[in-house]
Amino acid sequence: MEFSQGLISAAYILAALLFIFSLSGLSKQQTAETGNWYGIVGMSIALIATIADPRVDNVWIILVTMLIGAAIGLKLAKKVEMTQMPELVAILHSFVGLAAVLVGFNSYFEMDHSAMANITITASQQMATNIHLVEVFLGVFIGAVTFTGSIVAFAKLRGIINSAALMLPHRHKLNLAAGVISFILMVLFVQQGGGDNLLYLMALIAFVFGWHLVASIGGADMPVVVSMLNSYSGWAAAAAGFMLNNDLLIVTGALVGSSGAILSYIMCKAMNRSFISVIAGGFGTDVVIDTDTDYGDHVEINAEAVADMLNGAKSVIITPGYGMAVAQAQYPVYEMTQALKAKGIDVRFAIHPVAGRLPGHMNVLLAEAKVPYDIVLGMEEINEDFAETDVVLVIGANDTVNPAAAEDPTSPIAGMPVLEVWHAKNVVVFKRSMAAGYAGVQNPLFFKDNTQMLFGDAKDSVEEIFKAL
Ligand code: TAP
Repeated sequence: MEFSQGLISAAYILAALLFIFSLSGLSKQQTAETGNWYGIVGMSIALIATIADPRVDNVWIILVTMLIGAAIGLKLAKKVEMTQMPELVAILHSFVGLAAVLVGFNSYFEMDHSAMANITITASQQMATNIHLVEVFLGVFIGAVTFTGSIVAFAKLRGIINSAALMLPHRHKLNLAAGVISFILMVLFVQQGGGDNLLYLMALIAFVFGWHLVASIGGADMPVVVSMLNSYSGWAAAAAGFMLNNDLLIVTGALVGSSGAILSYIMCKAMNRSFISVIAGGFGTDVVIDTDTDYGDHVEINAEAVADMLNGAKSVIITPGYGMAVAQAQYPVYEMTQALKAKGIDVRFAIHPVAGRLPGHMNVLLAEAKVPYDIVLGMEEINEDFAETDVVLVIGANDTVNPAAAEDPTSPIAGMPVLEVWHAKNVVVFKRSMAAGYAGVQNPLFFKDNTQMLFGDAKDSVEEIFKAL
């Protein structure tokens, strides 16, 4: 089956529209499933239209390759744990980067180099050639950086290599030098109408640059880096789209590139990290953590007493964090929520934008446990309400409820917006010990007069409360 060019263009426009609907659907829980479907249908249309292009003459090879790829992808997707998602995404980005490099080399070697040496070439032909050479160069550069950068991110997240930041001497100068030399090579490449060795040399520099760029970022910033590489992979795909003259690839690449960049920015803002410092490889990571401050004593509570406290409450807010994911406590949390609601108690959830270890982590867990969306609120929507709340249950959250972020300008997390749970009448913190959270800083919330600590695995604690209720 072969499509005419007109039909292919129409299919591409439809697919591009579906991708835009998909992104907008994915931005809200209520519409996320529909958003996913838009994406699936859009991608199916795009694949069919691409394979049905009359210029494609090896359909069977493509179909067999796709079948093998789909089988591997399906198996991986079924097996992957929520907490392993960032590493899966990282390795997928490396494929996009490698694809862009291969497309770039192929596109360069397919060019008619004899025509370029022809002195009778017109100005507009010259311009078109130059533009194509820039596309090839940028495509290979971005693809190579994405490829090795994503492999390092994957290896760090998997624990295959040490996740600490690699601190080579003059590391920022090395990065700058790689950028400047690559730019000079690009100018020469265009001036000389190409040059195999220039392209090879730049690819080598870009592979090392990508590796070094991510190696010099600490494990703590890895989720932002994965989202940044997501953005790079989008730009690499867009560059490949220019080389292949494929409008859909350009549009899709730009969508992925810009949404990845926006997501990285939002994550950095929510963690109070400088966007530039993260992507430039750990500027300003030398924070000194103060362990000497005496915050006083903490008070413990048991599950029965929490149940009593809840029975006497009118309003309850639950703020989940990474510990709820570790304990897989979302199911008993939902059961407890239903029990409280049956007693006429108002129960809502407060979600910090970076609670857990990946964007939307808590929302996905709560949705999995069938918690209705309308009682799950974002930080801005609920932060004002803590003062009128009887009981806040902090289930496995720590940094995201740390008052030091708002009150102590010397804290390493100073300025990070947090859920201001300490304004509530009573706060119960569910965790296993007095250990610090992800940022490694002590949490003064645990020592406040209105806070009590319920030690133990979050799932066990919630189940005990549920029984006592
Ligand atoms: P964290 O600050 O990481 O604290 C989690 C707490 O859960 C720990 O204090 C831990 O204390 C407790 N915990 C662990 N396992 C538990 C279990 N089985 N039962 C009960 N408690 C358990 O969590 P958060 O408040 O969600 O903050 C997230 C942090 O990750 C932030 O610093 C954020 O910047 C960072 N981060 C987030 C993202 C995204 S995109 N979400 C990306 C990168 C970094 P115990 O060990 O004492 O039990």
